[in-house]
Amino acid sequence: MIESNKVVGKRDPSKLRSNRWFGPDDLRSFGHRSRLKGMGIDDADYQGKPIVALLNTWSDLNTCHSHFKQRVDEVKRGVLQAGGFPVEVPVMSLGEMLMKPTTMLYRNLLAMETEEVLRCHPIDSAVLMGGCDKTVPALIMGAISADIPSVFFPAGPMLKARWKDQTLGSGTDAWKFWAERCAGNLCDNDWKGVENCIARSAGTCMTMGTASTMACIAEALGLTLPNAACVPAVVAEHSRLAVATGRRAVELAWENVTPRSLLTRASFENAMATQLSISGSTNAIVHMIAMAGRADIKLTLDDYDAMSKKVPVLADIRPSGKYLMEDFYDAGGLPGLLSRMRDLLQLETKTVNGLTLGEQIQAAEVIDDSVIRTRENPLWPTGGTCVLRGNLAPHGCVIKTVAAEPRLQKHVGPALVFDNYADLKKSINDPDLAVTADTVIVLRSAGPIGAPGFPEWGMLPIPEKLLKQGVRDMVRISDARMSGTSYGTCVLHISPESHVGGPLAFVQNGDLIELDVSKRSLMLLVDEATMIKRRGNWLPPTTTWTRGYHRIFAGHVTQAHEGCDFDFLHGHSSNREPDIF
Ligand code: FES
Repeated sequence: MIESNKVVGKRDPSKLRSNRWFGPDDLRSFGHRSRLKGMGIDDADYQGKPIVALLNTWSDLNTCHSHFKQRVDEVKRGVLQAGGFPVEVPVMSLGEMLMKPTTMLYRNLLAMETEEVLRCHPIDSAVLMGGCDKTVPALIMGAISADIPSVFFPAGPMLKARWKDQTLGSGTDAWKFWAERCAGNLCDNDWKGVENCIARSAGTCMTMGTASTMACIAEALGLTLPNAACVPAVVAEHSRLAVATGRRAVELAWENVTPRSLLTRASFENAMATQLSISGSTNAIVHMIAMAGRADIKLTLDDYDAMSKKVPVLADIRPSGKYLMEDFYDAGGLPGLLSRMRDLLQLETKTVNGLTLGEQIQAAEVIDDSVIRTRENPLWPTGGTCVLRGNLAPHGCVIKTVAAEPRLQKHVGPALVFDNYADLKKSINDPDLAVTADTVIVLRSAGPIGAPGFPEWGMLPIPEKLLKQGVRDMVRISDARMSGTSYGTCVLHISPESHVGGPLAFVQNGDLIELDVSKRSLMLLVDEATMIKRRGNWLPPTTTWTRGYHRIFAGHVTQAHEGCDFDFLHGHSSNREPDIF
């Protein structure tokens, strides 16, 4: 199933990038060669062969990549089979579950590391081993900027979890069971039982969270082998995918197929269509804009919303639907789904496999229409995720309509404002809180600079007293992101964020807020004169980020609608190491 490809052309070995390190008869190259010999590596091991770097985001603290220790050996096997020389290069591991305040703070750091590691070493091609949310865009952003031949190898989702008679999906079902526990409907034993079962194997979240969404986007962009995005992490096929990816990386080095030679505006439009058809994580919108920026392609929220008006949701997967990633794979995976929306794709885009996207999905089929819906019976017609604008979000914000209660998609309610997350946590369950099911809960200071790092706080908790009354969804708005596994009527990524003086900073308790998804509108129903007065009285918050990477982040991160990359990292850089050294 997962085989490559067609080798387009093999270069003269002297033209390999690594030959600039090892080929010359000079003192520096003598040093390079002799130190490899000191590691037991002889000339015959690597000379005249592509050196393939396996950028491995494994760590004992990354719960989703625990199988990468084994997979990296399997990728090496593929590289050796194809006549390359594999080198394992550890890079920063961004494990979503154990990092505080948020891995998003470090996405750009891993992207920078990836770019610099690729540039400064004798590397002819790379296998990017990632999976847990931010590792995917970070590795791809860095590889685009370095523009060295690269293929992405996704970690794959966990197996489906079981508890009692129920099938569980990580993240999504944790939120649901937590709401029941807060409502008094779940005993301690059952809660512990869910904890024991919900993460069943190595791999990424098995809902259509950010990791699975980004893996699908990587495949749609043409950066993985075909049908790579959804292979469960611990099945034998995932090992075979690893070996095949290693083999392909060698061929990419010979062909000198770089990310920038593959990626076009059409590739990113395909990625947007894919994200919408799978009802993917809203986080992916930010990441797609950032990845495209590295390729000098300007994607905007308007581009995304225009696509949203055309693309139906076909994947019936949690949190928007019923099934899990393992079901999606068994039903035909991403190629099966893409084969149902050929007319919405630009099929001539290129892939690392040497085929066009159209050729790659030519033989794809769907096995189960209940998991991958037909065009006549979509999970959601169009607009499954929408961009909203209005006086509360002049530069835009997003809502995942398909995962929200329809009755709330046109709603006016009074604001209940929390200045920051600590404030919210302290007060949200206060029995005397002035809140009803019609209230619009507002959180500010949760954006890229304000939080810090743009955390996943956007699925704001429903007050316990309302949970006990049976309320399970409310309109909630913030400048935060939310986990791809989350759901509810949550307006996210409000831009500009409150910390830099976005209108969210001036909302007061009791102000009426109007959400109207059909009009793509989010409005604060307060007159302009009052807003001007409030703005005049506003004191910009001081930043406490005075040190190290945090200082760089606060000084250079762009806003949500711009992708949250650093302002100095747009576009690519030369992949040539300075010759003088
Ligand atoms: Fe790693 Fe969800 S925690 S993918």
